[in-house]
Amino acid sequence: MATTTGSPSAAAEHPTQHFSHVNHHHSPSPPPDNGEPKHVLILYASETGDAQDVAERTARAFRAHHRRAVTISMDAYDIADLPHEPLLILITSTHGRGEPPPAMRGLWGKLIRAGLPNHILEDVHYSVYGLGDSSYERFCFAGKMLARRMDSLGAQSLVEPAWGDERAPDGIEETFLPWLERTLAAIVPYLPGPSRAPRPDTDLPPPIYQLEPVADGNVAKEMDRLRLAGAELRDSNAEYTDIPPTDAGVNGSGSDVNGIANSARAMVYHPAGWHWSTLKHNKRVTAPGWWQDVREVELELAPGVTYPPGAICALQPRCSDAEVDTFLESNKLEAEADKVFIIRSTVPDQPLPAHLPSGPTTLRTLLTHHLDLRSPPRKSFFEWLRRLSKDEREQERLDDFISDPDEIHDYATRPKRTSLETLADFRMTTIPMSHILEVIGPLRRRQFSIASDSEAHPGKIQLLIALVDYKTNLKIPRVGLCSSWLVTLPEGTRIPYTLLPPTLHLPADNVPVILVGPGTGVAPMRAFLEARVRRGAAKDTALYFGFRSRTADLYFPTDWEEAEAAGAHVCLAPSRDGKDKVYVQDLIRKDAAMINDWVTKRGAHVYVCGSTNAMPRAVREAIAWCISSDGAGTLSATEAEEYVDAMFDGDRGGEESW
Ligand SMILES: Cc1cc2nc3c(=O)[nH]c(=O)nc-3n(C[C@H](O)[C@H](O)[C@H](O)COP(=O)(O)OP(=O)(O)OC[C@H]3O[C@@H](n4cnc5c(N)ncnc54)[C@H](O)[C@@H]3O)c2cc1C
Ligand SMILES: Cc1cc2nc3c(=O)[nH]c(=O)nc-3n(C[C@H](O)[C@H](O)[C@H](O)COP(=O)(O)O)c2cc1C
Repeated sequence: MATTTGSPSAAAEHPTQHFSHVNHHHSPSPPPDNGEPKHVLILYASETGDAQDVAERTARAFRAHHRRAVTISMDAYDIADLPHEPLLILITSTHGRGEPPPAMRGLWGKLIRAGLPNHILEDVHYSVYGLGDSSYERFCFAGKMLARRMDSLGAQSLVEPAWGDERAPDGIEETFLPWLERTLAAIVPYLPGPSRAPRPDTDLPPPIYQLEPVADGNVAKEMDRLRLAGAELRDSNAEYTDIPPTDAGVNGSGSDVNGIANSARAMVYHPAGWHWSTLKHNKRVTAPGWWQDVREVELELAPGVTYPPGAICALQPRCSDAEVDTFLESNKLEAEADKVFIIRSTVPDQPLPAHLPSGPTTLRTLLTHHLDLRSPPRKSFFEWLRRLSKDEREQERLDDFISDPDEIHDYATRPKRTSLETLADFRMTTIPMSHILEVIGPLRRRQFSIASDSEAHPGKIQLLIALVDYKTNLKIPRVGLCSSWLVTLPEGTRIPYTLLPPTLHLPADNVPVILVGPGTGVAPMRAFLEARVRRGAAKDTALYFGFRSRTADLYFPTDWEEAEAAGAHVCLAPSRDGKDKVYVQDLIRKDAAMINDWVTKRGAHVYVCGSTNAMPRAVREAIAWCISSDGAGTLSATEAEEYVDAMFDGDRGGEESW
């Protein structure tokens, strides 16, 4: 491998000036003058936690080889440092319809800027691992785009990129383990470290976080320090409330030391970009007794906050007090639960990940707001239990899980067994304070398509949320963490939220738009329709809304009447009301003449949204049929299909499914 720093060509042009700064949470020191890399940098982008878990597993493997590894989420990394990273591992999932996860978007936007010199990353040696699901058309697209772009900017690929498929019989393990072996073999020799044998997988590694106790008398001082550093301090006493009056002490008078310590115990921190809203209403909109509980939820925002149609609202759920207590009890940590501490990273150059608070906190707060006890455990969880277990029988069982991904699938993934329930099955194994933050993954935010147009509902966000409620294959009833938490909240509750930009964008007002949204998929379509009506573009807007019954799950009924009165073409498809089942694709076919005219002559855009992966394909087939000679057009069936595919590959078609 060539030396990795100080390339004359790159240095002469100051490559970093081509990348302007993104979120700047991290500023590693410049690369060493002698060109010897001090660590491997692992940049990851993850939405639901899988890629973050893979990044941490990869880092642990390097550390087991006595080498330094630093993991940073892409959105916390300063891209200006990228040209100086000699050894880089990139790990990302794919979301949307072949799109980078939100955490990769900033970095990606900078990487694809026109005019970047094609040698700007020539000193970077990299390896890419992508995660995805092969049932999506654009399998691991974000990882593939990233690898291609790294090459075109002159970076040198150290090993063949690999793609993890959660649909594969062994999940991602099939490709991850061989990729990890190749990556270790390629990178370890270039990192300083002893040539000792690697640490066995079953040995407990030193913790990467230190929990530094904060004496009650010092909490105020710590908070002042954080205030100066600009951190947001929020109180979550009871169900999210504002900062309590103990603020007087917090800002430095130190008059009520116990009060301050107590408020630190209840403190909840949110990363930059999160704000407070107030729950204004939370109304069931499906008929009483109907199988599904769907809520229209309205959040009131701070004055002046606006968002574009199609924007997404993310909410951070919380774990129940009962589950937190069970965890504390089974791990014999009740006495530790309310002690105040600050989390420090023990890995040089590695900042705390965004899901961990930077200020004084407690174990109880972490388990309630930051860590996920509910999701089915991944392989890494079983690996941790194996490292912690002292019981021979449990060790054997854990070894079986670790060596056979099928066992984990049957035991945890398929029956949706939670981490908490898994711990109950391994009663002899407990998680010590020192490693909890590594063993238990982040409590992830949930995204919701905003159902309102910001100008039509100033200062408000309206959402349409379905309560997840089902029985597992073992017939155990389960509810979704976020949706079940939301449905119980009383009006007036303060709820933290963040806004994510739309992935679907309305075209100019004179371009027709065809909106298709079955079930809760109608949420963003309602926002688009409101915006089009407001802008006087109703007559060039069609909505196809699929549901089961007019009396049970017809959401926003009066809105559709108003939009129709304004000139929009609104088609309702109740699939169970009549003798024959009617779906959105059937109604699209009925409108073949209009669809053909709008699509082939007037450049219409088509947007499809919903909670299923299969429906968008049926909609595309229906549109293709309309513009073919079998429908109202002139194209052959193959030409029509290619035409629609090209619409969706370009910017005239869009899908959002979950
Ligand atoms: C861009 C985007 C927009 C979204 N918009 C909306 C929206 O407008 N409205 C909305 O309601 N949701 C929306 N979602 C989905 C939402 O983010 C959450 O995933 C959903 O509310 C469930 O979260 P939860 O915490 O309640 O459930 P979780 O605790 O996360 O449980 C969900 C998990 O339970 C399992 N599960 C669910 N049902 C079953 C079943 N029948 N059988 C077996 N397993 C099952 C699945 O593994 C699923 O992943 C959107 C998602 C995305 C990515
Ligand atoms: C809403 C949604 C959209 C997705 N879209 C794609 C896709 O287009 N292509 C793909 O390969 N995988 C897709 N996936 C699968 C994810 O990439 C996969 O679940 C991955 O393990 C998630 O990793 P993360 O938790 O790090 O985000 C999608 C998953 C979700 C939930």
